[in-house]
Amino acid sequence: MSSQRVLIPAEKIQARIAELGAEIDRDYPTGPVYLVGVLKGAVMFMADLARAMKTPARLEFVVIASYGKGKTSSGEARLIKDLDHPIEGFDVIVVEDIVDTGITLTYLMQVLRQRNPKSLRIASLLDKPSRRQRPVTVDYRGFEVPDQFLVGYGLDFSEDYRNLKDVCVLDG
Ligand code: PRP
Repeated sequence: MSSQRVLIPAEKIQARIAELGAEIDRDYPTGPVYLVGVLKGAVMFMADLARAMKTPARLEFVVIASYGKGKTSSGEARLIKDLDHPIEGFDVIVVEDIVDTGITLTYLMQVLRQRNPKSLRIASLLDKPSRRQRPVTVDYRGFEVPDQFLVGYGLDFSEDYRNLKDVCVLDG
């Protein structure tokens, strides 16, 4: 039986998101900024980050399938749900819950770059650089996390735990 313990409590997550929202406001004073959330993990962060920003934001979502993902991620990625609107000429921030190997974002950034956005950056609540297989730079990073299996605040294990308010470590 798995047990979970809190790694990043809800209040700390929300305080950090407020800072990130203010940073984005400073960087994009006029907007609109397209926030591109990667389902499903990013949904909580996307909702809170968008509301932490004063700059007008437009919300888009993509779904990316990765092959060979269980508790560890490996292999390649494929877009199975595309953007609903063109992003050409717009400022775009990709919103992720976590960057692990970097395979998902390396693929997505390459896809989005071909759409000719005005700018393209990455916001990720969590960053696990110790697991990186492909170089990915996170422009707006919430927290650097150790190499432990994390759940909560969007992150799942077999679809469970996504609605926890805290980011937790799953033990056992
Ligand atoms: C997770 C997470 C990122 C990706 C990061 O998604 O939300 O999209 O893995 O891993 P990587 O850097 O090794 O590519 P997952 O495929 O588990 O789907 P989910 O968001 O629906 O949980």
